[in-house]
Amino acid sequence: MKAPRHFLQMRDFSREELEHVFHRTKVIKERFKRYERYWPLQDRTLVMIFEKASTRTRLSFEAGMQQLGGSAIYLNTRDSQLGRGEPVEDAAQVISRMSDIVMIRTFEQEIIDRFAGHSRVPVINGLTNEYHPCQILADIYTYIEHRGPIQGKTVAWVGDSNNVCNTWLQAAEIFDFNVHVSTPPGYEVEPERAGLYGTDHFEQFADPMDAARDADLVTTDVWTSMGFEAENEERLRDFADWQVDGDMMRVARKDAVFMHCLPAHRGEEVSAEVIDGAQSVVWDEAENRLHTQKALMEFLLLGRVND
Ligand code: CP
Ligand code: NVA
Repeated sequence: MKAPRHFLQMRDFSREELEHVFHRTKVIKERFKRYERYWPLQDRTLVMIFEKASTRTRLSFEAGMQQLGGSAIYLNTRDSQLGRGEPVEDAAQVISRMSDIVMIRTFEQEIIDRFAGHSRVPVINGLTNEYHPCQILADIYTYIEHRGPIQGKTVAWVGDSNNVCNTWLQAAEIFDFNVHVSTPPGYEVEPERAGLYGTDHFEQFADPMDAARDADLVTTDVWTSMGFEAENEERLRDFADWQVDGDMMRVARKDAVFMHCLPAHRGEEVSAEVIDGAQSVVWDEAENRLHTQKALMEFLLLGRVND
């Protein structure tokens, strides 16, 4: 049996494949907006496994699969055998014999890698401690929609060097743009954990204002990611000077957009003035999770579909 393709981190796809997914996103989104039925995945089943909470990821995958004519099944750790120590390899064998595609949100990347290694069907990373590739797919698509190609642009990442940050860094190598990162001391990017080949597409700045200066896109995320709740109090103190606020947006380019994967904490990583302000594209960004993931599932299940 031919090994299936997976989307476990950004670099699993070539730039050309990602551009194809973006092209299909546009077509699928336009059809959806015109209320045109498009059911290429009729009779296909998506299994979604959640070991962490979610609003957007669950909704966009579940609604997206239904809109493509298929169905989606939700499993979580609490009420499946996954939370009771069944080996990941065994779960992968069984789940992938009963479904056509699987999406997993879990802790270490190693878990999803092991699942994929034993799966007969494509596996999509719906967030791990290390990466969140579906998020950056939507983010880059959103940037292109608002401002055109991202190649050569500068993305400022202010805050924690987490899964979303790591994925931006991988995407920068693929699409040839720059990421200016500013984290508090002790929270710097770990290139190996981010899965980077080289370092020419990112630079670290001690002062977040320097990272934001002349940026085309300013973005951030929660100070405490899921799974790190025990560090919350310490992080609140350590990240206090890493809020994206109006002053920070003013040093970015005039036409800079603000993004946040959501959920957001106004008054912590971002001020209300910025996230609810004119430069913020966070609602388009959230909506595009739906459209980009529909194109992603189409690609993984049907290969290249031409218009
Ligand atoms: N951005 C994102 O993945 O949101 P959820 O945690 O709600 O899925
Ligand atoms: N970095 C955040 C993203 C949530 C969508 C987390 O992992 O909790």
